[in-house]
Order: sequence, then C-alpha cells, then structure tokens
Amino acid sequence: MGSVIAGTGMYVPDNVVTNHDLARIMDTSDEWITTRTGVKERRFADRGVGASDLAIEASHRALDAAGVGPSEVDVVVTATMTPDYMAPGIAGLVQEGLGLGHIAAFDLRQQCSGFLYGLDLADSLLTSARGEVALVVGAEVHAGFQPWSEASWQAVLGDGGSEIPREDYERNSRYRSWSVIFGDGAGAMVLRKSDNDVEGVLASSLHTDGASFELIMVPGVGSKSRPYVSSEQIEADTHLPVMDGGGLYRRAVRLMPEAARAVATKAGISLEDIDLIVAHQANDRITEGVRRQFKMDPQKVPSNIGGYGNTTAGTLPILFHELREAGRVNPGSLICFAAFGAGAHYGALLYREPESP
Ligand code: UT7
Repeated sequence: MGSVIAGTGMYVPDNVVTNHDLARIMDTSDEWITTRTGVKERRFADRGVGASDLAIEASHRALDAAGVGPSEVDVVVTATMTPDYMAPGIAGLVQEGLGLGHIAAFDLRQQCSGFLYGLDLADSLLTSARGEVALVVGAEVHAGFQPWSEASWQAVLGDGGSEIPREDYERNSRYRSWSVIFGDGAGAMVLRKSDNDVEGVLASSLHTDGASFELIMVPGVGSKSRPYVSSEQIEADTHLPVMDGGGLYRRAVRLMPEAARAVATKAGISLEDIDLIVAHQANDRITEGVRRQFKMDPQKVPSNIGGYGNTTAGTLPILFHELREAGRVNPGSLICFAAFGAGAHYGALLYREPESP
C-alpha cells in the first residue's frame, strides 16, 4: 500500500536575478557561476514575503490540480530551513492560510532533504491510517540569508543603473562561494492514500550523517548562545551560512547514488528500470556526478538548476512538477527521488506513477 501523488504545484517569486546582475554587486561572473554550478538565474521574494507565503501559493495550485478541497486534507507537512520566524515554524501558517481547519501540521528541518523526508512521513501517516489525504510542501526564502545591503538589493533588483559602495562589493564578494547558488521557491504535492501496492510510494531509504553537520550550517543565532541572537553575532556574521562546498560535493555524489541503490534493493527492482531520478539540485556538477555513477542516459537525471538555483526544500517538488507538466512522467513511470544536504540528511524514495489517474 503506497500513497499516490494526486496533484502538484509550484510557485516562485517574480523577481529574476541573473548571474550578470550578481556580477554588479560582487567579484563574480556569469562564466564562473555557469561552469561551476549550472545556475543562470534565480528568483528572490520581496521584502516582507516569507516561506509560508510561497508555500501557500504552491499548495493552492497543488490542491487545484488534485481537485481536492481544503476540508479534505487530513494532515499537512511543511519543510523549510528559512521559516518566517525563529519560532514557531510555518506549518500553522500554511494550515491557517489555506483554511485547512484544525488538522495535524508538522514542520520538518531537514534542509535539502526536507521534502524527501516530508514525502516519506506523509506516506507513513496515510498508510498507517492517520488519514486519506496529505499535503506536503517545501518552501524557501533564502533572500534573508544574503549578506547584501539595501544598495546591493536595489542594484540586483532595480534597473541595473545603481552603483554600490566599495565596502558592500567587498563584503558581498567574501560570501560569493555560497551566495550565488541559492534561490527562492516552493513546491507542493497532494498525496492520496492508495490500496494498490504496486503503485505510489513503494519504498524509502532515509539516512543522517550527523558527524557531517558542520559542512553547511548557520553557526550563530541559536540556543547555544546567550542571548540566542546579539549584535556581536551579527557583527561577526555568525548569522550567515558557512559552507565547505568541496566536502558537500564529495559526499553528495557518493551518498545520493548509495541511497538510490539501497531503495532499489529494498523494493526489489533493478536500477535500469528507473525512468527518472529526481535529484536535489545543489550544483549541476553534483547532478553530473550522479549521472556518471549510474552510467545513465543524462535525460533520466534531469536538471532545472539553471532557472532557480538551489531552492533547498523547494527543489524536489518544483522539479517533479515541471517534469510532470512537460509530459515526462507517464502512467507506470518509475521515479526515484534523491536528496543530500545540511544535517547531513540524505536518502532516496521510489515512486510509481499510477496507471490511471
Ligand atoms: O544545498 C546545500 C548543499 N550545498 C552543496 O551541496 C554545494 C556543493 N558545492 C558546490 O556547489 C561547490 O563547491 C561551489 C560551487 C560552492 C564552489 O565551487 P568550488 O569549485 O568548490 O569553489 P571553491 O570555493 O573551492 O573556490 C574555488 C575558487 C576560489 O578562488 P582561488 O582561491 O582558487 O583563486 C574561490 O575564491 O573559485 C573562487 N570562487 C569564485 N569565483 C567567482 C568561489 N566562488 C566564486 C564565485 N565567483 N561565485
């Protein structure tokens, strides 16, 4: 018994920021970002817009696509590393914003693997008779993490005419290795319980390598600090992410395929039977590494990082939604979702698209 994806939706903010825009506010170039990451442009939300706002938009679209009304949803699972507030998380905001009534609502903090964990949790809840319909949504507003001044934001979002102060340019350049990768966006799926055990979610293999948590993290702003946030932390920039890009790359190209092999073995299927690997989009070089590991037709491991950058928990549902819309997910298609990211959480989940809707 697995759950089937009854509808998908995505939402990205209107503001497009190209690599050329970024090159106006830091020492970088379209050529460097394109060849090292595959990102060409990303979206950023307006000031005052949080992850819950994007999540609600994406969820409306997924519910419409599924033909499911708010009163039919039994549980909502939200995944984000950029919640609107330090506490509480966004699940309640999404529940209220969609008018779902007082149903159970979970927040997950698994970063790039957040949606994958959410899908597995929602499937487990449905298959253990906790409800018939679940909404799973991944959403990020990384704009808040960008170390950019108001002048820098105006330069990237405005008409391109404004110059930024020299010290802003130097500061932005110090954080260029991670700031060019990320973008904002949300994706949602409506899951429906199914009694058919050869379709829907077939198996999952989820893992955590807690010893690698320092590879990408925000070291300040937390309960180890007194107070948990202070002007000293802000001055020391400990509220910004620190990232060991090389360390992440090496683990991602090894552990995503490892998890995909494990889930295939668990489900008793051969890797050759997989039609699509919907892999987390952190860097096109990682996606290329995954393709090399499987010696697969590159078309089977698609990429959409060029248009959005790394949208963390938003990535898997956005990519899957786009593939479905493009007619790449057909009745009976076998899909492997795979992700790796901060925590370090990683894993894979196998899904068979139903033969009939
Ligand atoms: O989703 C969360 C998980 N995140 C990931 O999985 C990210 C995985 N890793 C990566 O995507 C890559 O490691 C990065 C794209 C982040 C960085 O690529 P890299 O090839 O590992 O770059 P690096 O940080 O080792 O830097 C190489 C060079 C340095 O210059 P020097 O010292 O060799 O002269 C950097 O200063 O590239 C320079 N550099 C840049 N140059 C222009 C770093 N970032 C930039 C930039 N523009 N944006």
